[in-house]
Formats: sequence, structure tokens, C-alpha cells
Amino acid sequence: MASPSPIDAPQHVLDLLTRLHKTSLEQEAAISKSGKVFSSNVIDALKDEQQSSDPKAEFDKLMADKFIALDEDKCQFAYQLINSMGATNVVEAGTSYGVSTIYLALAVAKVKAATGKTGTVIATEFEKEKANVARSYWAQCGDDFVQQIDLREGDLLETLKVNLPQVDLLLLDIWTPMALPTLKIVQPHLRYGAVVLTDNTISGAEAYADLLNYLRTPENGFHNMTLPFNNGFEMSVYLPRK
Ligand SMILES: C[S@@+](CC[C@H](N)C(=O)[O-])C[C@H]1O[C@@H](n2cnc3c(N)ncnc32)[C@H](O)[C@@H]1O
Repeated sequence: MASPSPIDAPQHVLDLLTRLHKTSLEQEAAISKSGKVFSSNVIDALKDEQQSSDPKAEFDKLMADKFIALDEDKCQFAYQLINSMGATNVVEAGTSYGVSTIYLALAVAKVKAATGKTGTVIATEFEKEKANVARSYWAQCGDDFVQQIDLREGDLLETLKVNLPQVDLLLLDIWTPMALPTLKIVQPHLRYGAVVLTDNTISGAEAYADLLNYLRTPENGFHNMTLPFNNGFEMSVYLPRK
């Protein structure tokens, strides 16, 4: 029998998370035959089906009201990892309606309370409406909770260029072409032993070829393991040679 959830949170927050994951999965099932949305597959399908002149714009339009939340078990893993690492500065690339952000902020708040360290979850979202709705979900988690999150609205390739602390953990839950450029912006701020988590690295291996090639080139300093979650979840530990 699997362990019960490791998440330490009030019941209304756990209920909110259950509801949001359910909505996200229902949305994905309506879009994708496999039941999971993977950005490059959706863009390819739009290219084939609609012969659209601008499949990327069509894709952004389709995704503007979709959660595409990180799977619940992967969120729980990130929560466990943050607590075990004592991580307090976390960057989330791709926030959407802020489901995974809730787990990151719960974990960071717990580490801060236990250690007295400072820190923040830096969240990123370029859809204004998604950012507003995410804030409303976070408000339901409590005033103290909201203080844990610095939501940067706009293109993360711009918003992450400034005011980054030394980063303990980066979650890459973003459209595939954005993953490597995001990593390159954050990498100079990663502490020794920082972790980069990347979603869907088994099902998305082809679309992530540039990112995986970069992560797996020893000179770049990452030690990688593909965790056997559904569709893969890459855990890359930053251990650059001195
Ligand atoms: C897979 S979803 C994130 C899901 C979220 N982590 C969760 O678990 O709820 C990816 C999000 O990244 C956002 N996004 C894509 N490109 C972006 C960019 N350049 N800057 C900021 N956000 C972006 C999309 O609007 C989308 O909401």
C-alpha cells in the first residue's frame, strides 16, 4: 500500500489541491488522447490539423485557460525534496493557475519556520488572467502563505533576469522550447548541490533534446537521473567542478 500524502497543510488547502488537480486532469483528457498534454505534441497536431499559419499563437490561445498542472505525485516529490534539502529559494518556470506553486510554498514555509532561514518561491507566468486566478487560489491558502510567493508576470526570459537570489531548486514545468533558455538564465544563480526538476523527460525526450543534451554534458556540471514517474521526471543535481 502506498504511503499517505506527505503534505502538511490545513484540510481546506488539501481539499483545494484535490479539486484543482481533478480539474486539470479533466481538461487534459478533453484535449489529448493520452490524457496528458505535452506542448510539442499539441503544437505538432495543430500544424497537421489546421494548417495554421501560426501554430504557436494557436497553441497559446488553446492553453490560455488550461491548468496543465504538474502531476500530484510529482508535486509531492518536490515538497519532500525541498524539506530534505532545507531549500528556501525556489524558482518555478511555468506557474499557470499555481497548483505546483502551492506545494513549493508549503514546503518553503515549513523549512523557513524550522530553520529561521529566509527565502521565497519565485513563480512565473505570462498569461495575466492565469496569474490573477493563481493569486486567488493562493489567497484561499492564507495570508502568511501568500507572503511566500513572488509571482513575476510576463515573459520569464525577462522577469528572471533580475533579482534572483542564490537558488536551491528550479522546477522546469514549461513549454519545451523554453526549458533550456530558462535553465541558462538561472544556472549562474544555482548553489552547489541545487536541484533542477524537469517534467516529462521520458515522453518528451525528443522535444527536450537540446535541454537533455546540455544537462548530460559533464562540463555543464549536472548529475542526472530520470525518475520513473509517469512520462519521466528528471532530477539534475548541480555539482560543478571547482
Ligand atoms: C505546464 S504549465 C505550468 C503548470 C504549473 N507548474 C502547475 O503545476 O500548476 C506552463 C505554464 O507556463 C506558462 N508560460 C509559457 N511560456 C512562458 C514564458 N515565456 N514566460 C512565463 N510563463 C510562460 C504558460 O502560460 C503555462 O501556464
